[in-house]
Amino acid sequence: MTKKASSSRKSRTASEAAEPDEPFVWTRKDLLGLDDLSAGEIVHILDTAAGFEEVSTRSIKKVPALRGKVVGLMFFEPSTRTRMSFELAAGRMSADTILFQSAGSSVSKGETTLDTIRNVEAMGVDIFVVRHDQSGAPHMLARNVRAGIVNAGDGRHEHPTQALLDMYTIRQRLGRIEGLKVAVVGDIAHSRVARSNILGLRKLGAEVVVVGPPTLVPSAIAPMGCEIANSLDDVLGEVDVVNMLRIQFERFGTSMFPSLREYHKLFGMDSRRLRRCKKDVLVMHPGPINRGVELTSDVADGPNSCILQQVANGLAIRMAVLYLVSQGSQ
Ligand code: NCD
Repeated sequence: MTKKASSSRKSRTASEAAEPDEPFVWTRKDLLGLDDLSAGEIVHILDTAAGFEEVSTRSIKKVPALRGKVVGLMFFEPSTRTRMSFELAAGRMSADTILFQSAGSSVSKGETTLDTIRNVEAMGVDIFVVRHDQSGAPHMLARNVRAGIVNAGDGRHEHPTQALLDMYTIRQRLGRIEGLKVAVVGDIAHSRVARSNILGLRKLGAEVVVVGPPTLVPSAIAPMGCEIANSLDDVLGEVDVVNMLRIQFERFGTSMFPSLREYHKLFGMDSRRLRRCKKDVLVMHPGPINRGVELTSDVADGPNSCILQQVANGLAIRMAVLYLVSQGSQ
């Protein structure tokens, strides 16, 4: 019997998902968020990415998996690494890509997001990678177009491929996810990375504690299954991973705490705090880093940091996601 990944399936735990002899059939045409996925589907994406990781080590870094397919990279909000990572991932799978960036486009002439996408779809696009400042935009598009939709970050809602590459990196460095304790530190209120990480990590059996000043950690986050702490020092000794989130200045200015100095003093990771952590604690950051705010340079570039490994793994994750949704939309 084969396992079917469908939207109606209930979430399974990581151990229920680990039945390696049963072939897994992926059926989704979209990847909208980790909220929709079962533990089994998440593990399947991580395992598929592990298969693609080797492609990046070849001298000819290309496989024909998406030859003849067109991937539309639709960036309605600025992005550097996510856009480049998806573009390179699509290229490594031999897909053609077209890039849309809202600045200087017909969006500034009043075109709606759906009209923009429908026009580009008419050019024969099979999969859209969508980044949008409005939460839920990729979901609306998925209901209205035939092409597959991959969410590359929607407002404050979800950033599924970032959380997948974070989980992939944790599994690679620490050998497992189940049973670990992960601190997600900083601007939880405005962070789609935090939401997707909490959802994914909980599904795979990790404990999550969110840490930050009360103005940036809404109590409404607790029902997602995480602990809340307002002191980083209180949790340092008990966590296996610290994921330091960027302060999203573009979403609220600087009004949520007295000063950057004060924020760094209370919630920044530096060598003094690192010494109080478990010896092999993993320090993560989704980027872009504000050095001296979320973490100091010696920590960001030190042996516990896996920030560049996260970026490298992003490629394998995005290859896996593009491959799987292309299977789902056939
Ligand atoms: C994140 C994002 O855009 O949500 N960055 C990213 O995709 N690497 C996090 C951030 O901007 O802080």
